[in-house]
Amino acid sequence: MIRRGVYPGSFDPVTKGHVDVIERAAKLVDELTVGVLNNSAKISLFSIDERVSMIEEITAHIGNVKVSSFDGLLVDFMKKLDARFVIRGLRAVSDFELELQVAQSNTLVNPEVDTIFLATNLQYSYLSSTVVKEFASYGGDISHFVPEAIIDRVYEKYGFK
Ligand code: PNS
Repeated sequence: MIRRGVYPGSFDPVTKGHVDVIERAAKLVDELTVGVLNNSAKISLFSIDERVSMIEEITAHIGNVKVSSFDGLLVDFMKKLDARFVIRGLRAVSDFELELQVAQSNTLVNPEVDTIFLATNLQYSYLSSTVVKEFASYGGDISHFVPEAIIDRVYEKYGFK
């Protein structure tokens, strides 16, 4: 049986914390799909195609990782991929309440689905896409936060370069 996992998120933009979770999750399952949520109700900095291609680029070195966009419910996307495991990173206790609620709801809707929580590497426990955008919007240093390959793309969005 092939163990398929999905690491879902907005990834607007992808951070070093996300990459850390992707690298570790890829070792837990046979096939990992990074599922990028195409949420039309939310204004994003990067388009869905930009987010997918950035993640493809920075995960190209990991053999069993695919990147795909999805809209609608995560459980439906999981069913389409025949995937059983949702991967989510937990940075702090503050993440836990909502994440537990979502995980339990998803399993209620589809009992085949299980969520695996990975403790975020201490180095990235403070990090979020929101922090990246805040620093970048003032032209601040984001080299600690995002993979080198996408630094300039983030600055360009704010008219720096
Ligand atoms: O990176 P994020 O924004 O914290 O990711 C949240 C995400 C995409 C995992 C979550 O919002 C999600 O799964 N959305 C898809 C819609 C869905 O299935 N909702 C039901 C669970 S609340």
